[in-house]
Amino acid sequence: MLNWDDPIAAVKGRAPDTTDAPRTPAPEGRPQPAAPEAAREPAQPAPTADTAAPAPAEQTAGAPATRETDTLQPGAIPTPADLKPVNPDDKRVINGLTDINQLAPFKYPWAWEYFLNANKNHWTPLDINMNQDVHDYHHKLTVEERHVYENVLSYLTTSDILAMRNIGLAVMEKMSAPELQIYQARQVYEESLHTWTYQHCIESIGLDQGEIYNRYRVVPEINHKIQIANRRLDSVLRPDIDLRDPDELANFVMAYLFFAAVFEGTWFYNGFSPIFALQRRGLMKGTAEQLQYIMRDEVLHASFGLRVVKQIIKEENITLDPKAVREMWDEAEAAEAAYARFLLPDPILGYSAEQHIEQFRFIANRRARKLDLEEPFPGAENALPWLDEQANLRKEKNFFETRVTEYQTGGALSWD
Ligand SMILES: [Fe+2]
Ligand SMILES: [Fe+2]
Repeated sequence: MLNWDDPIAAVKGRAPDTTDAPRTPAPEGRPQPAAPEAAREPAQPAPTADTAAPAPAEQTAGAPATRETDTLQPGAIPTPADLKPVNPDDKRVINGLTDINQLAPFKYPWAWEYFLNANKNHWTPLDINMNQDVHDYHHKLTVEERHVYENVLSYLTTSDILAMRNIGLAVMEKMSAPELQIYQARQVYEESLHTWTYQHCIESIGLDQGEIYNRYRVVPEINHKIQIANRRLDSVLRPDIDLRDPDELANFVMAYLFFAAVFEGTWFYNGFSPIFALQRRGLMKGTAEQLQYIMRDEVLHASFGLRVVKQIIKEENITLDPKAVREMWDEAEAAEAAYARFLLPDPILGYSAEQHIEQFRFIANRRARKLDLEEPFPGAENALPWLDEQANLRKEKNFFETRVTEYQTGGALSWD
């Protein structure tokens, strides 16, 4: 029988642990993993996947100050004179001036729309049949295709954990409007769901988990991408950060920009495409369907992140350092190119490293435009024209032909 005080005890056949001792494992210092992906705007009129770029019109707040709720002495009983209703104009993305525990009136209604839209993409990896993938992997994929499949999964497993930690530990706590945090809370859940999805694929195919998960530790081309992301994350995980300090603020904005535009906006967005190339040939279709669900989430993650960055830039009157932005793109391109050439030393049928790299550049330009930044790779071409279709799910009927319909509550999945 399940023991609610210690559910694991029943599984392990041991007595329930009745001590209050913390069970948190010893810290291992700074975490290691990392990774990214892409975006579009949900909302008012349902935005067009990845390509939409609506511009909100929130006003710019004044200089940061102390929150009204911070002025009471600890333990003091408030009097009516101490209290007043929340004015949404006092909300800010960071360094907000008002009570963060009150959702409405909204200052950022678009953030709430993201949350509502995110909840329309609901699934678990157990919903998708993986039987054919097991056969495909063992009997149909070439050695080169198995190399691609395994290493894409290796990269994604680590990357999604890093994405979860970034939003949940480094970003969310710095937001000072609840409508932003609520979407990000959903995002944290989604990143963990993505990790479950990869784990389910790995288990279903029967891959060596230890070997797959450790690959980023031993393959330089995977490790490098993870380290780049870890560096950004570690720089904003410190507990002593004061975002009223202009240097700290600039660093935080660059880190958030990296995760939205590079990690999720390009690396993730384009990271699924080698598997989609197999899917287009009728191979590994279960895995690909899982990744399509993930890509839907990631499109929103990147879009939301860019929207928040844009709002911070506006509210805090920030000018991004063009040199720092250029270096971000150059580093991201070099790392992605090395990764792609490791994945695909020679092309597989329907997919090559050069296509992957060119698509990175093409999508990077799109992300930059969304922030009104200069295109980092002028002239880059849409090397994988079918990729947006995978993200935008214009083939909704085909995509859902095997899905239970109750997930599309009220026919609400209007992604175009
Ligand atoms: Fe994710
Ligand atoms: Fe994400």
